[in-house]
Amino acid sequence: MELVDKIGVIYWSYKESTEIMAEKISNGIDEAGAKAILVNVVDFDINTIDSYYKIALGCPAMEGETLEKSQFEPFFKAISGHLNGKKIALFGSHGWGEGEWMQIWENQVKDLGALLFDHGLTILGEPDKAGRRRCVEFGKAFAEF
Ligand SMILES: Cc1cc2nc3c(=O)[nH]c(=O)nc-3n(C[C@H](O)[C@H](O)[C@H](O)COP(=O)(O)O)c2cc1C
Repeated sequence: MELVDKIGVIYWSYKESTEIMAEKISNGIDEAGAKAILVNVVDFDINTIDSYYKIALGCPAMEGETLEKSQFEPFFKAISGHLNGKKIALFGSHGWGEGEWMQIWENQVKDLGALLFDHGLTILGEPDKAGRRRCVEFGKAFAEF
């Protein structure tokens, strides 16, 4: 089992479902003995991206199965050249359908040379008790990935 000390959990959330997921994933990471650095994307200093080897990225499905355009997508573009060889987990809430935005996002991350953890964790709407538990478990397993 490999444990990396510091794991970034960087997210954008319109209401709070993805934010709740980010908090629970961070709890799971901490429970596994690593240290989650939980940051809203609007507060993230892109210059620090290479101080992270493992990063969980969270963004809900927006506007036709895409990432949020004004804040998250520019951030994701800016870090795209820094993901090669990094361990990346993806998560986010969506409102309907099969989570197509996540499948597209997974492929983008793999194409950038990142080591994608499992499948992106998707939750319909706000995570309920079982959904929150899944987030904690996802965080734990990512810490051990
Ligand atoms: C402008 C807008 C566009 C959306 N587009 C999609 C979409 O294409 N597919 C989808 O499954 N959900 C879509 N949703 C629903 C959100 O993904 C859903 O409400 C999610 O729970 C929001 O997460 P948050 O609470 O972290 O902001 C959209 C919501 C908004 C406000």
